[in-house]
Amino acid sequence: MYTKKTSILYTGATGYVGGHALQRILTHPKANTFDITALVRDADRAKLLESKFGVKAVVGSLKDADKLTDLAEGAHLVFHAADSDDEPAMKAILAGMKKRHEKIRDTPILIHLSGAGSLTDDARGEYASQTVTSDLDIAAIDAIPPTAFHHAVDLMAVAADTEGYARTYIVAPGIIYGLSHGPLFDAGVAKRNLNQVAFFAEAFLARGRAGVVGKGASIWADVHIDDTTELFYLLFDKALTDPAKLGHGREGYYFAENGEHSLYALCKAVGTALVEAGRAESAEPTELTAEERATIFGGDVMAFLNFTNARCRADRARRDIGWKPVHTTEELYRVAKLEVQTALRKQVGNMSA
Ligand SMILES: NC(=O)c1ccc[n+]([C@@H]2O[C@H](COP(=O)([O-])OP(=O)(O)OC[C@H]3O[C@@H](n4cnc5c(N)ncnc54)[C@H](OP(=O)(O)O)[C@@H]3O)[C@@H](O)[C@H]2O)c1
Repeated sequence: MYTKKTSILYTGATGYVGGHALQRILTHPKANTFDITALVRDADRAKLLESKFGVKAVVGSLKDADKLTDLAEGAHLVFHAADSDDEPAMKAILAGMKKRHEKIRDTPILIHLSGAGSLTDDARGEYASQTVTSDLDIAAIDAIPPTAFHHAVDLMAVAADTEGYARTYIVAPGIIYGLSHGPLFDAGVAKRNLNQVAFFAEAFLARGRAGVVGKGASIWADVHIDDTTELFYLLFDKALTDPAKLGHGREGYYFAENGEHSLYALCKAVGTALVEAGRAESAEPTELTAEERATIFGGDVMAFLNFTNARCRADRARRDIGWKPVHTTEELYRVAKLEVQTALRKQVGNMSA
């Protein structure tokens, strides 16, 4: 209950997901009872966060393990949105949470941003998987191999919950789309991120035509940034106010999706926008050559990762925290057009700079 100040450590405040979630948390009716400390790398943006938003900012990086441990020890809730894959950072955060538990018998809360990339296969765009994983299917979540993308870090969080010194929640969104917006972005605290749709828009604009790996047949779950933000907000609120019936640890894995798309359909939406902008002759994506995959993705690891399957259902958030996402995959295709327009403006800006 919000009887006194709730100490919160926040990572990723200047980022796409973390920035949107933080500005929403600051609108919480009890926001004046939150004592938020953000770990921020850039000193100027740290100052802005303090002066304009009243959020304490400590200048530092996830690499500062001792600092991270100390900050985590001081927090009843850690909101970790900076990096889904940084094992040493998770280790440092959990060390702080454990110390807190041992010293003052608090059971601190961890909300960790992971990703549905933990479900990826090796499709290389050749096929659509028929496997769709619900986050209510604990056996299926347990069966995700520890070597899967993001999952080593997820499992560290789950182990802390099992040990009993923390209550952990993992949010694993599919592809997040939508333009950045809101006060933290307007103030220059948080920055626009080159999410996958924006990345494709820039890459295919430069190529003069949309492209795919293989046939582009693989399928990913998708979710709008505003719906993702709402999921985080509801989970944050529920974890603080009414955690009794809330799944945590092994049962605290929350996918975020409100639809899915084939990579071909997404790339074709970018292609259509390029045609409309007069920057491609055909909307149809063509297969990327090995050389193009190297140029665009820096090699086949990232190229193939973008063209895996990751199909999931966010049943837990809908059932347990009343999440009602509103944006559907149609919006993803509309956003693809906006991202092409943004990429065009950036290209013109770069040429005149
Ligand atoms: N976007 C998606 O579609 C999506 C979907 C699922 C999962 N994810 C995962 O979510 C995580 C965050 O994604 P995002 O899209 O929000 O990325 P982003 O816009 O690049 O934001 C990352 C945030 O974390 C901070 N950060 C990164 N490394 C740090 C470090 N070593 N020390 C301190 N701060 C650090 C960044 O600070 P600076 O401002 O200083 O760079 C920024 O505030 C990623 O691991 C990503 O894989 C993303």
